[in-house]
Parts: sequence; C-alpha cells; structure tokens
Amino acid sequence: MEFSCFCRLVVLVHLFILCVSVTHLHSLATDEAALLALKAHINPETQNILANNWTAATSVCNWIGVTCGGQPRRVTALNLPSMGLNGTLPPHIGNLSALSLFSINNNSFYGSLPNELSHLRSLKTIDFGINFFTGEIPVELGNLTMLNDLYLSYNNLEGTIPWEIGFLTNLKNLSISHNHLTGHIPSSIGNCSLLKEINFSGNNLTGLGKNCTMGVEDGPGTGGFGNFLTLSKSEYAMSFHGGGGGLVLWM
Ligand SMILES: *[C@@H]1O[C@H](CO)[C@@H](O)[C@H](O)[C@H]1NC(C)=O
Ligand SMILES: *[C@@H]1O[C@H](CO)[C@@H](O)[C@H](O)[C@H]1NC(C)=O
Ligand SMILES: *[C@@H]1O[C@H](CO)[C@@H](O)[C@H](O)[C@H]1NC(C)=O
Ligand SMILES: *[C@@H]1O[C@H](CO)[C@@H](O)[C@H](O)[C@H]1NC(C)=O
Ligand SMILES: *[C@@H]1O[C@H](CO)[C@@H](O)[C@H](O)[C@H]1NC(C)=O
Ligand SMILES: *[C@@H]1O[C@H](CO)[C@@H](O)[C@H](O)[C@H]1NC(C)=O
Ligand SMILES: *[C@@H]1O[C@H](CO)[C@@H](O)[C@H](O)[C@H]1NC(C)=O
Ligand SMILES: *[C@@H]1O[C@H](CO)[C@@H](O)[C@H](O)[C@H]1NC(C)=O
Ligand SMILES: *[C@@H]1O[C@H](CO)[C@@H](O)[C@H](O)[C@H]1NC(C)=O
Ligand SMILES: *[C@@H]1O[C@H](CO)[C@@H](O)[C@H](O)[C@H]1NC(C)=O
Repeated sequence: MEFSCFCRLVVLVHLFILCVSVTHLHSLATDEAALLALKAHINPETQNILANNWTAATSVCNWIGVTCGGQPRRVTALNLPSMGLNGTLPPHIGNLSALSLFSINNNSFYGSLPNELSHLRSLKTIDFGINFFTGEIPVELGNLTMLNDLYLSYNNLEGTIPWEIGFLTNLKNLSISHNHLTGHIPSSIGNCSLLKEINFSGNNLTGLGKNCTMGVEDGPGTGGFGNFLTLSKSEYAMSFHGGGGGLVLWM
C-alpha cells in the first residue's frame, strides 16, 4: 500500500518535471520556429548574413540580432536595422511572446502589419520605420499597453489613425510621419499622458477633431497642456516637453 503510494508520487513528480521541461523547450523552440518562419519570408537574395547565421545548427540565442533573457530563456529582443532585408512579416511573429524590442528599421519589408503583433504583450519598442509597409495600422495595437515607443515613419501606411492608440497609456514617442494616413488625429491620443514626442508630418491628416482637449490637466509626467487645439494644417509634428506644458508644432 505504502509502496504503491510512493510509486504514484514518483510517477507524478516525473510527470511534473517532464511537463515543466517540455514547456521550457516548447517556448524557446516556438521562438526559433517563429524566427525561421520570418527568415523564410525574406527574399533569399537579401538574407545576407542571416542566410548562414540563422540556422538550426546553433541556439537561436546566438543568432545575429537576437537577444534572449528571462527564466525560462526566451527571445526578448529582435534588432535587425539596416540589413537590406526584403520580405514580409508572417503571422508566426505573434508567437514571440516574450519580445520586448522589435526593430527592423530601414529595410525593405512590405505587405501589411500582421494583427498577430498585438499578441506580443511585453513589447516596449516597435521600430518599423523606413520600410514599405502598406495597409492600415491595426486597431489591435491598442492592446500593447506596455508600449513606450512606436515608430512607423517612412512607410506607405494608409487609412486613419486608430482611436485605440489612446489605450497606449505608457507611450512616450509616437512617430508615424511620412505615410499616407488620412482623417482626424483621434482625440483619444490625449489619454497617452506620458507622450513626449509625436510626429505626424508628411501625411494627409486634417488635424484634431474640433474641441479636442489634448493632454490631461494634472498629474506627474503629463503632457501638460489642457488647452484646446484645433489644427488645420495637414503636416505637423509636436513635441511635449514633459510636465512643462510646452508644445511645439512643426507646420
Ligand atoms: C551568428 O552571428 C553572431 C553575431 O555576429 C555570431 O556570434 C555567431 O557566431 C554567428 N553564428 C554562426 C553560426 O555563424
Ligand atoms: C539604411 O540601410 C542601408 C543599408 O541597407 C544603409 O546604407 C543606409 O545608410 C541606412 N540608412 C539609414 C538612415 O540608416
Ligand atoms: C522587394 O521584393 C518585392 C517582391 O519581390 C519587389 O516587388 C520589391 O521591388 C522589392 N523591394 C525593394 C525595395 O527592393
Ligand atoms: C505559431 O504561429 C503560427 C501562425 O500564427 C501558428 O500556426 C502556430 O501554430 C503557432 N505555434 C507554434 C508552436 O509555432
Ligand atoms: C484587442 O483589441 C481589440 C480591438 O481593440 C479588442 O476588441 C480586444 O478585446 C482586445 N483583446 C484583448 C485581449 O485585450
Ligand atoms: C481614456 O481614459 C479614460 C480614463 O482612464 C477611459 O475611461 C477611456 O476609455 C480612455 N479612452 C481611450 C480612447 O483610451
Ligand atoms: C522619438 O523618436 C525620434 C525618432 O526616432 C527620436 O529622434 C527622438 O529622440 C525620440 N524622442 C524620445 C523622447 O525618445
Ligand atoms: C518629424 O519628422 C520629420 C521628418 O521625419 C523631422 O524633420 C522632424 O524633426 C521630426 N520632428 C520630431 C519632433 O520628431
Ligand atoms: C488629402 O485629402 C484630401 C481630402 O481627403 C484630398 O482632397 C487631397 O487630395 C489629399 N491630398 C493628398 C496630397 O493626398
Ligand atoms: C465646442 O465647445 C464649446 C464650449 O464647450 C461648445 O459651446 C461648442 O458647442 C463645442 N463645439 C462642438 C463642435 O462640439
């Protein structure tokens, strides 16, 4: 009787250990699969250094542009700026769930921004500036509430700026200049009270809706301007000088 209890305990402990280690392997293995999917969506002629570096022969943590961290180890940063890469972002990138920094600045990525980006809840920085992305800014980006920096400048994005951008209450820097965005700048942006810098220049935006109150009246680190803003110019950038109430417009 006692023996059989002990046996069961041993089996349970083994099952538990197996479960835990499978979860570990699965997580980093999932990251690897996601990055191999990304590689497969990059034109082979432009893979350059990735061609022989991003291979299953070495741990994903040793791949160029990849940083791992945490316990269990996961891919936490993907930093691939100015590498001449031409390709699209596959939905698999939505599996890189521990990612905090995602930069592909100054490449030739095209196609739309996958909705799966919104699964990356740990993201603090998205830098997709200077590429050829088309389509709309996914409203689901509003789910990335940890986001500090969102750089989408110099792409071919169209449509309106989603109202849901206002959910990004940790946003400090929003650069969406030089796209083909239209419509009003949503007044919900006033909710992003940590915003230090916004750049809307080089679009076809009609300004804030009438009677939009930007910023919040009080509280530490706010944009600090509770005044009405009605802007009629289609090209401008703003800089909020934290707490001081300064507002600079580039017309
Ligand atoms: C991939 O690149 C990294 C960074 O340059 C380097 O440390 C690593 O050894 C390379 N791996 C392979 C298999 O070439
Ligand atoms: C963009 O990347 C190319 C290499 O692909 C490089 O020559 C160029 O200087 C980079 N431009 C910027 C603004 O970083
Ligand atoms: C990237 O690849 C696509 C598809 O092959 C091609 O149409 C496009 O011209 C390329 N972009 C650049 C900047 O080379
Ligand atoms: C990763 O993402 C893709 C596409 O979103 C999905 O088909 C796949 O099942 C996901 N999971 C793993 C473990 O790769
Ligand atoms: C993600 O965003 C969409 C669109 O804003 C929203 O409908 C959905 O509830 C959000 N999902 C989560 C899990 O927050
Ligand atoms: C703005 O913040 C208020 C208070 O936190 C919230 O009720 C409202 O839904 C937010 N709006 C947007 C667009 O984020
Ligand atoms: C915001 O982003 C722009 C463009 O990348 C950069 O020049 C600027 O320093 C950033 N500002 C802050 C406050 O991080
Ligand atoms: C906005 O972007 C334009 C062009 O990219 C640049 O000249 C300007 O300095 C930027 N302003 C801010 C506040 O980042
Ligand atoms: C900007 O949008 C307005 C109204 O939608 C349109 O009449 C105008 O042609 C657009 N301008 C550019 C440069 O796209
Ligand atoms: C703007 O606000 C003023 C004062 O609160 C109000 O009288 C007016 O009706 C508002 N206009 C619009 C278009 O909402």
